[in-house]
Amino acid sequence: MGFRILGIETSCDETSAAVLSGDLHVLSNIVLSQDEIHAPYGGVVPELASRQHIRSIGYIVEESLKQAGCSLAQIDAYAVTQGPGLIGSLLVGVSFAKGLAYFNRKPLVPVDHLDSHVYSSFIENPDIPLPALALLVSGGHTSIFLLEEKLNCRPVSRTRDDAAGEALDKIAKFLNLGYPGGPVIDRLAEKGDPGSFGFALPRMRDRSLDTSFSGLKTAALTHIRQAKIDDRHPRLFDFLASFQAAVIRVLIVNMEKAVDAFAPRSVILCGGVARNRKLRTDFLAFAERTRLKAFIPSPEFCTDNAAMVAALALEMLRCGSPPASFLDLNAYARRESGSPPA
Ligand code: KG4
Ligand code: ZN
Repeated sequence: MGFRILGIETSCDETSAAVLSGDLHVLSNIVLSQDEIHAPYGGVVPELASRQHIRSIGYIVEESLKQAGCSLAQIDAYAVTQGPGLIGSLLVGVSFAKGLAYFNRKPLVPVDHLDSHVYSSFIENPDIPLPALALLVSGGHTSIFLLEEKLNCRPVSRTRDDAAGEALDKIAKFLNLGYPGGPVIDRLAEKGDPGSFGFALPRMRDRSLDTSFSGLKTAALTHIRQAKIDDRHPRLFDFLASFQAAVIRVLIVNMEKAVDAFAPRSVILCGGVARNRKLRTDFLAFAERTRLKAFIPSPEFCTDNAAMVAALALEMLRCGSPPASFLDLNAYARRESGSPPA
């Protein structure tokens, strides 16, 4: 049996473990969502999330081994998300991975969550032409990264307030549409007319590539109040389609500006919101207009998953990044000034 790596991801409210072979083949990728636990609160409750990770992690790791058809003794290295994320949730994964690596005397590679989202695009397309610009859209982040090399992922844009997924989730919560709101809006917006409610594009005063969704959110709340929109309103689908289209327009316009500034050879879309069907279609159309190759991971690699963690760790091992001295390894909640803490 060739090289095997086991990855663990617990940064937010998904407990995930995956086994990959040394040649980037995904042998298993088990993801247990906690959506049902957090749905009554309309958002992730950190304390409940970490407790649920503790309950699930052992079983999920076992399941990932079983599906991959191997035993712990056959795992040659471990990888874990170190941050950013919810600190209590991260600590469950980090502690579990430390225990496994220490007991089995194998290396442990700590991985940054944002880097692993970007790296998810290489699982199915290892030869993406570089430099590439990667748009990462998730519940916690809306950023553009410039990749000069696979492991050199430099942030060139971020959000000044809400992330795209957060904006979608908040409006869905306000209308009692369920949690997480992104997939619900994706489904309902399909039945609506995206041109029926007006949303002005937010403008950044400076020439920065940063995004902001607070203006769109305020505009959405104004429409909701004026048209008295609720979850049974006849124009609900039109409203959701218009709001979703506005969020996507902000993302694409920003990518257009970034492409002008950095002249990449390809563009990447990743993160949980990259599951959105209209965003996927519009992103491909944008790439075609700008004559760039576009890469979007399959939906299961967009939302939080451990396959992307193991995949990035494999590349780090291949490039000789020294594995952590794992008993000192600690989780971090924030990624300061773009690069993971040393
Ligand atoms: O990457 P992810 O699993 O976790 C973070 O790192 O944040 O992303 C979760 C986000 C949530 O905001 C969720 O509403 C959004 O991804 N999302 C979607 C879709 N599926 C998940 N947003 C829009 N359309 C979808 N189909
Ligand atoms: Zn994520």
